[in-house]
Amino acid sequence: MCGIAGYIGYRDAYPIIIKGLQRLEYRGYDSAGILLYNNDVIISKTKGKVSDLEELMNSGVSKEGNIGFGHTRWATHGIPNDINSHPHTSNSGNLVIIHNGIIENYDSIKKELIKRGYTFQSDTDTEVLVNLIEEVKKENKCKLGKAVQIALNQVIGAYAIAVFDKTKPNELVVARLGSPIAIGIGKENKEFFIASDASPFLEYTKNAIYLEDEEMAIIRENKDIEIRKINDDSIITPEIQQLKMNLEQIEKGGYDHFMLKEIYEQPHAITDTYRGRLNANSGIIRMSGVDDNIDKFLNADRIIIVACGTSWHAGLVAEYLFEDLARVPVEVEYASEFRYRNPIINPNDVIITISQSGETADTLAAIKLAKEKGAFVFGICNVVGSSIAREAHAGAYTHAGPEIGVASTKAFTTQITLLTLIALKLGKAKGNLSTAKYHNYLQEMEQIPKKVAALLTPETDAIVKYIASVYKDASNCLYLGRGYNFPVALEGALKLKEISYIHAEGYPAAEMKHGPIALIDENMPVFVIATKKGHYEKIVSNIQEIKARSGKIIAIVTEGDTEVKKIADHVIEIPETEEALTPLLTTIPLQLLSYHIAVMLNKNVDQPRNLAKAVTVE
Ligand code: M6R
Repeated sequence: MCGIAGYIGYRDAYPIIIKGLQRLEYRGYDSAGILLYNNDVIISKTKGKVSDLEELMNSGVSKEGNIGFGHTRWATHGIPNDINSHPHTSNSGNLVIIHNGIIENYDSIKKELIKRGYTFQSDTDTEVLVNLIEEVKKENKCKLGKAVQIALNQVIGAYAIAVFDKTKPNELVVARLGSPIAIGIGKENKEFFIASDASPFLEYTKNAIYLEDEEMAIIRENKDIEIRKINDDSIITPEIQQLKMNLEQIEKGGYDHFMLKEIYEQPHAITDTYRGRLNANSGIIRMSGVDDNIDKFLNADRIIIVACGTSWHAGLVAEYLFEDLARVPVEVEYASEFRYRNPIINPNDVIITISQSGETADTLAAIKLAKEKGAFVFGICNVVGSSIAREAHAGAYTHAGPEIGVASTKAFTTQITLLTLIALKLGKAKGNLSTAKYHNYLQEMEQIPKKVAALLTPETDAIVKYIASVYKDASNCLYLGRGYNFPVALEGALKLKEISYIHAEGYPAAEMKHGPIALIDENMPVFVIATKKGHYEKIVSNIQEIKARSGKIIAIVTEGDTEVKKIADHVIEIPETEEALTPLLTTIPLQLLSYHIAVMLNKNVDQPRNLAKAVTVE
């Protein structure tokens, strides 16, 4: 969480940093701040969003300077207020820092620094870190880079930091452990950019270095970047990557919100996920990360899927896919529970981790644990070059394109697409799928983008919008599904609660009788996924049970359905497909529904309260 953007070079730093922070605001938006240097240090910071910082800067603050950095915060230590906002300054006023992450042993360091006469203005761990660096610099009479290195060897926690020293105003020092830092390299080393991801500098350069964990860089104007290992001081020769992302991908493109744009991008995103991998005519699924490790997959005693949030829901869909199509036992774990549970992991287990951002702290820690225990780890990520993508033994990208809206939409459907390809590939290789069935799935998979597009028409949108207008004031909602669509029910409920703040619960439909049915009365909207293939009769009975208790039924049904239509209050039709592929369709109206409800309630759709896109703290 938290976004970092900085610049050193010959251009005005302010517009680059402020635009960069706007692009990184998905990482946190509790407060924002900036440092600029132009013969003296200028620091402005405020509680609130980057737009509040801009307003503050427009009230007469100097925006001059060719060096500086900015921060958009997701609060960890200290409430979101002006004082706790970054940047933080050391007691002498010489050192300035921005930080993404948590310093776990900050309290003991703070006590020690207080004994040595340091005082603190904020409640943050970051202010402790900048003063520790100052103390180390003073004690060792060393330069900033060395002081940062020594100090970081004394802290426990996670960080991406940028530090500036007013006595040496032509350099920036950055370092990472657990939180990402990308460095953009301008022409002939005349300018450099730093950022939590590459989006702030895409219009200036496509050349980037991603720092690895435990690496730091000293960046000087007109000079080469010096990259070192924090713990042993060894020099690193960086790999310069060519960025493929473009600006259009990270802008709203005429939509009111990123979430809506991303919902509508799904037909393309799903196609991009299987492009070059799936060839239905020749019956081939090619995925190098799986092909190169096919023995591990085929000989796996079980597959353990580890993820958080929406990615965990995609993992639950995969449990049905792998067990049904490939007959491999699967366990799906919350990364945060898995990593602390002393889990039993055997060398013959395959661990699949799923993460849109590739930076989720718990998922990353789970990978490290699984690797220590000798398991093979396969990472499914969207963000290219992310920490999880690099930490896993092998993996595959979803190629969904940047997802900026905090509520995951296209990440979910593209993760399921990728997992379906793997399940089909294994099912075929293990002889569990007949050739005819396998080919049918492949053909059907290729039809999915068209079928998703058919759900994104003005007609369907109007139906969903009307339903949203009827239920937007509900205090509680239930989402029910069975089999492949039980995880979709969970995901539908998560979407609604995270952006509209309406309490919602997802349940396996049959579980309703074991408790939640007590909640049902005429005020309870119940969203039921009742597609033709997949326990249809059973779910019709569940709907009758809701009806008998006067609950309001909004059903997602297969085109042409007549039975559910007779009993439901509202229906949304989806095109017919194989049961295993239905989550790719049933999820679409539920995303749209949450979106419309949130808009009608005037909520901040793309930046819901208390959340951040990449959860880089545990
Ligand atoms: O980047 P990841 O996929 O690892 O993120 C995991 C969750 O934080 C994420 O899916 C979260 O639940 C979404 N905001 C939900 O829409």
